[in-house]
Amino acid sequence: MKALFRKKSLTALMEQTKDKEHSLKRVLGPLNLTLLGIGGIIGAGIFVLTGQAAAQYAGPAIVLSFIISAVGCAFAGLCYAEFASMIPVAGSAYTYSYATIGELLAWIIGWDLILEYLFGAASVSVGWSGYVVSFLRDFGVNIPAALSSAPFAFDHVAGWTSTGAVFNLPAVLIIALVTGLLVVGIQESATVNDFAVFAKITVVILFIVFGVSYINAANWHPFMPANTGTFGQFGWSGVFRGAGVIFFAYIGFDAVSTVAQEARNPQKDMPIGILASLAVCTVLYIAVALVLTGIVSYKELLVPDPIAVGVNAAGPGLFWLRKFIKIGAIAGLSSVMLVLLLGQPRIFYAMSMDGLLPPLFSKVHPKFRTPYVTTIATGVVAALLGGFFPIGALAEMVSIGTLLAFAIVCASIIVLRRTHADLPRPFRTPWVPLVPALGVLITVVQMLFLPWATWLRLIVWMALGIAIYFFYGRHHSKLAAIKADAWNK
Ligand code: ALA
Repeated sequence: MKALFRKKSLTALMEQTKDKEHSLKRVLGPLNLTLLGIGGIIGAGIFVLTGQAAAQYAGPAIVLSFIISAVGCAFAGLCYAEFASMIPVAGSAYTYSYATIGELLAWIIGWDLILEYLFGAASVSVGWSGYVVSFLRDFGVNIPAALSSAPFAFDHVAGWTSTGAVFNLPAVLIIALVTGLLVVGIQESATVNDFAVFAKITVVILFIVFGVSYINAANWHPFMPANTGTFGQFGWSGVFRGAGVIFFAYIGFDAVSTVAQEARNPQKDMPIGILASLAVCTVLYIAVALVLTGIVSYKELLVPDPIAVGVNAAGPGLFWLRKFIKIGAIAGLSSVMLVLLLGQPRIFYAMSMDGLLPPLFSKVHPKFRTPYVTTIATGVVAALLGGFFPIGALAEMVSIGTLLAFAIVCASIIVLRRTHADLPRPFRTPWVPLVPALGVLITVVQMLFLPWATWLRLIVWMALGIAIYFFYGRHHSKLAAIKADAWNK
């Protein structure tokens, strides 16, 4: 029983980062880290889901959903920043809980993070495919539906059905391309990310700046359409359901914490990267939501490309922006995949360094100094998921998994202030325990608004993870081989 709560000491964690054979390249500064955060955040959430959430759940009050979700993420972001400054080691929340709460919970959270990163990249690849198919169609190139959609569809009423398609070829190709880039190098990946972030931020700002003058205030009335009588359809319950859906748009800032071992000055720069990227995206999202619901009636936004529909509604004066929107979305979704596929192998790497996964998973490429085995393994699984499954089912798994991770991280900060009060904390979460407690509350409430089928899949996924731990990790854990006293400081 005691073994389940064995912890790694911080000294041991820091020593591990000096291991030459497994060392990663320290090249990322505060700007790279912030851009990496933005790279992971702005994507399918804003370019695809905003319109659907406004049309189905919240109306123009989707702006409030964005604010509610941002508050929850800000609380989680502050807790992540404290952890990242205190334990600047690859592996994100997995590593934090290993050092503080114990091995079993660390494994559980590591396993849960697969839903955020690997499933996240897979769902974004499906959104990317949709935008690319539509972009190519504008130039007369038609990719048949049989080769650009999943063979299965899912909805909460009919369950799984067959679509007749073969598989989603563009989704598989983009995952393969991004994986190749990530194997070649962290610096190269960061450079590509910087360009993609520049492109998507430019497009979002262009939309806000040029869209403002086309706002028709009548579209904001009523700001919060009355509830239809069904829970979650407009009114306040709709605003909260909208917040649960829109949460997907904020996921990614925490990926900054997975590259701690590649940051030049992690203690100082990780909190900057996490909080600055979140702040920039929050402001942009709220502005986009206001402009979008101002230029077009929310009723017309139940489409896969709501921003493009907004531009069309504004009239010929804004038509020039249409192609740029698609380019911005394609670049944006690419960088989200890049960041998520960068984070996942580093979590596997940390788990393997601890013995909870086989040693093969921590192999670093002799020339590129990247964890190439896990990068390729992650890419193969993400490509299979993106090629064969629909975006809705994947994205709901991503949201519930990430919300669970955020809740655990927030709760851990409260525990840690008691159990490890003296550890140096270059960044301190303000108003503990209030901020982390509210973080737990908001994330758990958002989880409760997700459908039962999603909960069921989460339970099955976690049960599978726990079984793997008891069959493999528990017996191979490096901590198990070391006297408990030496580690449990
Ligand atoms: N936040 C990321 C997106 O919206 C996952 O695509």
